Amino acid sequence: MPQDPQNLKVLLIGGGGREHAIAWKLAESPLVSHVFCAPGNAGTAHEPFVTNLDTVAEERPFDPKNPQDVLLLARRLKADLVVVGPEDPLAAGVTDVLTEAGLRVFGPTRSAARLESSKSFAKAFMSRHRIPTARFEVAETPQSAISAVNRFGTPVVVKADGLAAGKGVTVAPDRSAAELSIHEAMEESAFGEAGRRVVIEEYLEGQEVSVLGITDGDTVLPFPPAQDHKRVFSGDSGPNTGGMGAYCPAPVLGPAGQDFVRSHVLEPTIRAMAAEGAPFRGVLYAGLMLTRDGPRVLEFNCRFGDPETQVILPLLNDDLAELMMAVAAGSGLRRRARARDRDRGLDLSPRSAVCVVMASGGYPGRYETGKVIDGLEVASVRSGVKIFHAGTKVTGRGRVVTSGGRVLNVVATAPTLAAAVKEAYKAVALIRFEGAHFRTDIAARALSGSGG
Ligand code: AMP
Ligand code: GLY
Repeated sequence: MPQDPQNLKVLLIGGGGREHAIAWKLAESPLVSHVFCAPGNAGTAHEPFVTNLDTVAEERPFDPKNPQDVLLLARRLKADLVVVGPEDPLAAGVTDVLTEAGLRVFGPTRSAARLESSKSFAKAFMSRHRIPTARFEVAETPQSAISAVNRFGTPVVVKADGLAAGKGVTVAPDRSAAELSIHEAMEESAFGEAGRRVVIEEYLEGQEVSVLGITDGDTVLPFPPAQDHKRVFSGDSGPNTGGMGAYCPAPVLGPAGQDFVRSHVLEPTIRAMAAEGAPFRGVLYAGLMLTRDGPRVLEFNCRFGDPETQVILPLLNDDLAELMMAVAAGSGLRRRARARDRDRGLDLSPRSAVCVVMASGGYPGRYETGKVIDGLEVASVRSGVKIFHAGTKVTGRGRVVTSGGRVLNVVATAPTLAAAVKEAYKAVALIRFEGAHFRTDIAARALSGSGG
């Protein structure tokens, strides 16, 4: 229990663009005295009221996937709230161990995190509860996977069951591509344990959109829909990445679609997880395909999306720390809504936000690091612009250099999507580092009127 709810110390696990956005939004809250990031990046290092803990090692390096390491750190800092950014620590049970020790955590338990960490669990859960998703079969052997492919026909989708850092899904155009990905996952262990079992899934056509909701296990408050851009190059070409840009709200999912996702996906999922004894608290992220027959769930994630968070949080007028404390307390969102005597939704800005990711030359393949980044200051003082760092660090001489594949998230908010796009690219044009590349068409489909 926090000693003083006005003076919260927050420990934030993670160091990407998503975590920079979360740290920035938390530090803005009058309830928060300080945010400690483990490990953070050069962007969080420069935020007021935020400190990076990149030298927390004792005998061995700090491991965010080791619940005991996180517990030790949280105790040492006397953290009032621990916020977990990425999925791995959640799947490893960080929330379970810290909650057991009496700490407040924002993020689901290991058992609730199975919605992301096991695709076969998520699919079986969705079919048990009639949550709209693609038809599927779970296969334990390559032979049964191949017979499932024969039953579905092609194109078909082959998914490693476990966490594979976003690389475990293959959309196979024909039988031989499907067989190859089954072989790689199940016989060559391309994804380790995660690919021992696979899900074979019906191929769905349409546009993709992400709807995230913040939930205390009972009430769920959806954020506006956002759209990610997964392919590395403009025109949706090249290999998949962690995400090269995003925008919010995505007009492709209108008010009726948003109502449908809330009442047919988010709410039934939260109700059913509670009924099954694994209440889900934190952010539930539904990745959806908008098919001709309506929205279908492609995947659940058990955390904020990256780069979606970088366009969602700048539009949130509510106090994120207050929301997270209400979630960590369990069933606090309903109490909060009652106390405020207003409807249950989030307080959101009517603006639009656009994020352009600047990546290292070669990403998502091999890339070099240590490149000096110029122009950050001039770009970040532009009105409506915020730069969330991802793979950056500060050198001994105080210079900001690249340290990862995705380097910067250049975010602009404006009254319209078109204006936000323009502002984001003006800021991008001011930033330079050797080998930098970015997509030039973030939100272009939405602007051309063909949806998101
Ligand atoms: P997932 O991690 O399950 O979201 O899959 C990653 C990406 O693969 C999605 O964002 C889609 O682009 C694609 N994908 C996944 N499932 C399907 C499906 N059933 N039909 C078509 N594309 C899919
Ligand atoms: N943007 C996709 C994800 O966070 O998984």
